[in-house]
Amino acid sequence: MSDFNILAIETSCDDTSVAVVDSEYRVLANLTSTQDIHQQYGGVVPELASRLHIKYLMPLVADCLKKAGITIKDIDAVAVAINPGLIGSLLVGTSFAKSLAYSLSKPLIAVNHMLGHVYANKLTHPHLVPPYLALVVSGGHTELVFFSNQREFKIVGRTQDDAAGEAFDKIAKLLGLGFPGGPIIDKLASEGNPQFVKFPRGMNKKDNYNFSFSGLKTAVLNYLEDKDPEYIKEHLADIAASAQMAIVEPLVTKTLRFARNNNIMYVVLAGGVSANSLLRRLMQEETANISANLYYPDLQYCMDNAAMIGAAAVDKYKNGDFASLDLNPFPTKGLRVV
Ligand code: KG4
Ligand code: ZN
Repeated sequence: MSDFNILAIETSCDDTSVAVVDSEYRVLANLTSTQDIHQQYGGVVPELASRLHIKYLMPLVADCLKKAGITIKDIDAVAVAINPGLIGSLLVGTSFAKSLAYSLSKPLIAVNHMLGHVYANKLTHPHLVPPYLALVVSGGHTELVFFSNQREFKIVGRTQDDAAGEAFDKIAKLLGLGFPGGPIIDKLASEGNPQFVKFPRGMNKKDNYNFSFSGLKTAVLNYLEDKDPEYIKEHLADIAASAQMAIVEPLVTKTLRFARNNNIMYVVLAGGVSANSLLRRLMQEETANISANLYYPDLQYCMDNAAMIGAAAVDKYKNGDFASLDLNPFPTKGLRVV
């Protein structure tokens, strides 16, 4: 039995996503239109992304309601990702959500995209509540965050340069693989030897909880520079596996160091990189060693999606935490309770 339904909108980058999530964190529908146009430019073109969000949103909402088996009258609130992201893309989603909430006379809920990634876990584990330690790893962010409750958290570590997902993407590009690089390296690495090249582990020895991945990118570049193309081709899976290990190992080491030092019982993975099979496996082994419990989202909710925005909005709805209709996206880095 559900008390309310939330229509959630996510347009922070180049995917247009709409979902219906109910009061029990059940996903009634979650649809995403990907924008293939950016591939020919080798990266997201912000203006093109904004325009396509405008084009895709209306039909996607209609399809989403149909798939959920409800009508617009069954919607009790409209939630939208407000930051961080491409400002033009966020503006399209926010304007759309505001108009819809106004026309339906329903509350509007603003959700931080990174908080949404953490809440993606609720879609699979509805009973998961803080305190927990979250490793938030995406294409633009890498943060180790201690949540004391759902509204209060402390960022205890972060990357000093590139994000973990960015490292996967940049290394994939150096290896001549496609975009996004993370899933491609993950798959390729399963056939390779992670000890083949000993790439540097950023800040591993430093006694803090921060990360650094830009040195690794340079190390891969230097490694490839004096190698024969045939040799690289022959050992592509080994190089991918070695690079993946150099990204994942520090993530696991630092997370476990904090968990051990602070008697953490619950560790949560969030963001696109939480889909990584090596990260999941090593984290599972290491958390088991300290008798902590590990949670990560279902694979379909690791990458950007509107269902995670809906999940975060469920708690905001319950708390009556609504946004006013003069809401506007504003640039920000990382996690915040909007
Ligand atoms: O969270 P997300 O969908 O978007 C941002 O908010 O940035 O994360 C996208 C990132 C990309 O860098 C992508 O390469 C990475 O997540 N990613 C992965 C995997 N799946 C996605 N990285 C490693 N292994 C994966 N299986
Ligand atoms: Zn994201």
